[in-house]
Amino acid sequence: MFLALIVLFSAQSCVKQGPMGLTGANGKDGASGTDANETCKMCHNPTKVDLIAEQFTLSKHEYGEASFSEAGTIGCDPCHTQEGFKYVVKNNVSTAFVQDPTTKKYSNPYATIVSAAYGPLTCGTCHSEIHNTYTSSDLPSLTTVAAVPMTMWGGTKTIDLKADGGKSNLCIKCHQPRPFTNALTGNVLDYNALATTTGVVYDGNPKGATNIIKPSYRTHTHYGTVGAIVGGMGGVEFPGALPYTSSAHATVASCENCHMGAKGAASDLVGRAGGHTFSAAGNFTTCNATGCHATEITATNTTFWVNPRAEIKTLLATLAAKLTINGVEIMNRNGDSATNLWFGITTQNYDGYLNVYDPITNPGAQTWNSSSFKYVGTPPATWNQAQLDYNATLPVLTLSNAQMGALINFQLCLREYSLGIHNFAYSKALLTNSIAKL
Ligand code: HEC
Ligand code: HEC
Ligand code: HEC
Ligand code: HEC
Ligand code: HEC
Repeated sequence: MFLALIVLFSAQSCVKQGPMGLTGANGKDGASGTDANETCKMCHNPTKVDLIAEQFTLSKHEYGEASFSEAGTIGCDPCHTQEGFKYVVKNNVSTAFVQDPTTKKYSNPYATIVSAAYGPLTCGTCHSEIHNTYTSSDLPSLTTVAAVPMTMWGGTKTIDLKADGGKSNLCIKCHQPRPFTNALTGNVLDYNALATTTGVVYDGNPKGATNIIKPSYRTHTHYGTVGAIVGGMGGVEFPGALPYTSSAHATVASCENCHMGAKGAASDLVGRAGGHTFSAAGNFTTCNATGCHATEITATNTTFWVNPRAEIKTLLATLAAKLTINGVEIMNRNGDSATNLWFGITTQNYDGYLNVYDPITNPGAQTWNSSSFKYVGTPPATWNQAQLDYNATLPVLTLSNAQMGALINFQLCLREYSLGIHNFAYSKALLTNSIAKL
């Protein structure tokens, strides 16, 4: 074919042909190939990759929009995009905060680079060797199961869940909280100081020289709180009646055990849960299938489901009720199921944000809380006069170390979604000791 083309080309361009060259030596025999179609079918068949790809469409990894909306934002993309995730894993990007020698201010280095800040979360995010050899050894080959130096602690604490070959660490690399930073130093907030010293993080004066937090509606623990709760670290550990221990789940169960069925096999799908949907919602087969719980757990089991969840729900409501200043709640409510990711977890529909007036980022503020706190600092130029006038009538927010610590614990325990199933002992201790502290 190639030769024919050259001949054709030569003829058309009418170049005079030279004499024929010498015949070259024979090439080496190639290794005999496998039947390509057979290797493909090992994975590309209705019970394996094809089915898993279908399940995956029910996973928020696939249908969620954050990989699209956050593309190009290098600080967000280690967790929100495929290439960003692969970049931080491959380069072992440090989570230790870096101090500028001149300004003495700290900054967070945990980021990808602009040219690797994109890509929806697909199979290749977690499986690093797809189509590497086209043999069965390409799967599962997880991208990482290494211990996770936590970004929220600037890497000074590490989560390493060893159950099930450390596979939870894959999930926790992303499902971990982002750091709260100290507004004066830029370093991670000192949770130990919040837990054990008196003082204020915000004195109510936007120009106050000692304020280490500038509170806003968005002063929050980022969504991935599950990893910190399952790992039994990540809270503000006020000394108190309950010790900070972990339930058995932290050591004997993995994320996969409960969220994907025993091994993430295709047959583990239950409704819109299990397998590669990654959802645990309404799926009790995993509690029983792994041989962990001797008596079968169902949605009506009081000891292992109804009662512990009711207890955490009550503790959340009690803590939120204590987090008030002159009757105004610090924690925000949002009764809109479309915008509140934690809708229905508490009766009051708290969402973990702060109840600080902000008509742009939190237009529902006046709808769900009876009153809000005044916006901290100078409102954005886009506010209209009615918004400015309303804001001026609102009470001023102040936050003590204890209130700040307690609200962080509230956010962690609300946003882990399971009302204590992930790590009942740890959630209960954080909430109970916070309530006692206030
Ligand atoms: C070890 C398992 C495995 C083997 C063997 C395998 N594949 Fe795949 N292949 C996958 C996975 C996993 C995906 C990603 C599926 C998805 O995104 O839905 C994939 C995706 C694909 C895609 C879609 C690519 C894209 O970018 O969307 C094609 C085409 C494909 N494979 C062809 C083949 C062919 C042809 C063979 C045989 C020569 C083969 N595969 C062998 C696992 C395998
Ligand atoms: C590359 C980072 C990353 C990894 C690794 C990862 N996740 Fe996720 N996960 C996310 C992000 C980001 C979302 C939310 C996506 C969105 O909303 O666009 C999410 C969503 C989810 C959800 C749905 C949450 C909801 O509110 O409905 C579950 C459940 C989940 N992940 C479980 C897991 C499990 C289990 C593992 C480990 C097997 C895992 N994830 C690994 C980043 C990751
Ligand atoms: C350390 C990992 C990590 C980093 C860094 C991170 N996120 Fe996330 N984010 C997550 C995880 C995990 C979830 C989903 C958690 C869940 O549903 O339980 C999430 C959820 C979200 C959601 C909610 C999506 C939805 O389901 O509606 C938004 C919005 C979001 N992140 C924005 C950002 C932005 C903006 C940044 C950067 C400023 C950022 N994230 C940085 C881990 C991270
Ligand atoms: C002991 C079982 C168990 C383990 C271990 C576990 N989960 Fe869960 N998880 C649950 C249950 C139960 C829910 C609540 C499901 C519901 O909505 O009813 C849940 C909820 C979630 C949610 C909210 C979305 C959803 O599916 O409802 C995310 C995200 C999540 N878990 C991530 C993780 C991650 C990441 C790990 C590992 C660090 C993990 N989980 C470990 C049982 C578990
Ligand atoms: C969020 C991470 C994550 C994503 C995304 C993901 N997987 Fe997996 N997958 C896992 C984990 C964890 C396991 C279990 C590995 C184990 O048990 O050793 C697994 C197991 C598998 C297995 C082996 C299961 C078995 O029983 O043979 C296959 C095949 C597979 N995944 C294919 C896919 C395909 C295809 C996609 C995309 C449609 C995908 N995975 C997306 C995490 C992921």
